[in-house]
Amino acid sequence: MSPCTILGIETSCDETSAAVVVDGRDVRASLVSSQVALHAKYGGIVPEIASRAHIEQVRPIIEQTLSQAQVGYRDLDAVAVTVGPGLVGSLLIGVTAAKTLALSCNLPLVAVDHIEAHATSAALTSDPPPWPAVALVVSGGHTSLYLVRDFLDLELLGQTVDDAAGEAFDKVAVMLELGYPGGPVIDRVAARGNPKAVRFPRTWIHKPHFNFSFSGLKTAVLYYVYGAGKKYGSAQHLSATELADVAASFQAALVQTLVAKTVAAARHAGVQNVVVGGGVAANSALRAELQAACEQAGLHLYLTPLEYCTDNAAMIAALAYRRVQRGETADLWLEPRAGLLRPALRSRDRVAT
Ligand code: KG4
Ligand code: ZN
Repeated sequence: MSPCTILGIETSCDETSAAVVVDGRDVRASLVSSQVALHAKYGGIVPEIASRAHIEQVRPIIEQTLSQAQVGYRDLDAVAVTVGPGLVGSLLIGVTAAKTLALSCNLPLVAVDHIEAHATSAALTSDPPPWPAVALVVSGGHTSLYLVRDFLDLELLGQTVDDAAGEAFDKVAVMLELGYPGGPVIDRVAARGNPKAVRFPRTWIHKPHFNFSFSGLKTAVLYYVYGAGKKYGSAQHLSATELADVAASFQAALVQTLVAKTVAAARHAGVQNVVVGGGVAANSALRAELQAACEQAGLHLYLTPLEYCTDNAAMIAALAYRRVQRGETADLWLEPRAGLLRPALRSRDRVAT
């Protein structure tokens, strides 16, 4: 069979990204244009600014990616795009760019679910995971556990009922006045702190279900830092050591909850393999603690390589290959979908909390 070269486009949130991937694994080029600087002063993503930046970036990034991969439009076998979930205005830019290329270059169009791509991004290595596996997807917008029977065959086991893990990192960083995005900076600051300094809540850590809740943890940090009745009004009264201790203790509470639930989910599903993807999968404490817990539980852990944890189009082009193999292409009526594509937990699956 001749190789299948796919151009992937990802614009679901605040990164404009394009990649060329051959046969779902061989990444020829993967470029990401980050909008962090544009959103930093607002302490979070401003959807309208994100959409406008995607409009400016999408064409140059596609051209740079093709040129870096030394691939022309005629060498492509398909064009793939994130169809959702995400910010609808942002998704629309990528979907429109992909449709335009599909039509003008006469290429099959492939729609990819952003969460399914994060859940299977650990396959972008020379040592891909065998399925079935339990996948922990931890990003700015989602925190979920899936049973992955195969690429494109996922069953939702549980998810956050309020904040996503990345969102908690970002909001706690705002409280600690550490800047945006919060995940990488808390990861760095926490490395200098004592994770046992403050005992923050580990909500539902031992409950027999796979849902998460991080809003209580976030509020606990808020009260700790600002004091009851907002006594301090800011984090300025904390010394550098106290700040590092709070960051490390928050991170430890969140990471321990993620790790315990992931191992429990793997046991429940009866699988030997665990994969992790999404922006928070770049967190050094999460990577180390998952590794240790999986070893102890006799599970094989497959970490997504750092460059493919945060949003990127390589994971989109890689998963699109599996759709192409199944003959699943989209037509030009394709529309972005802001919400979760796969159904959320059915009510009877929800466990009383
Ligand atoms: O997957 P992603 O790029 O976008 C979404 O799909 O949401 O994830 C972005 C999230 C942000 O909340 C960011 O703070 C977090 O990933 N993040 C991290 C780290 N790097 C990025 N969180 C913790 N530790 C990190 N090293
Ligand atoms: Zn993402």
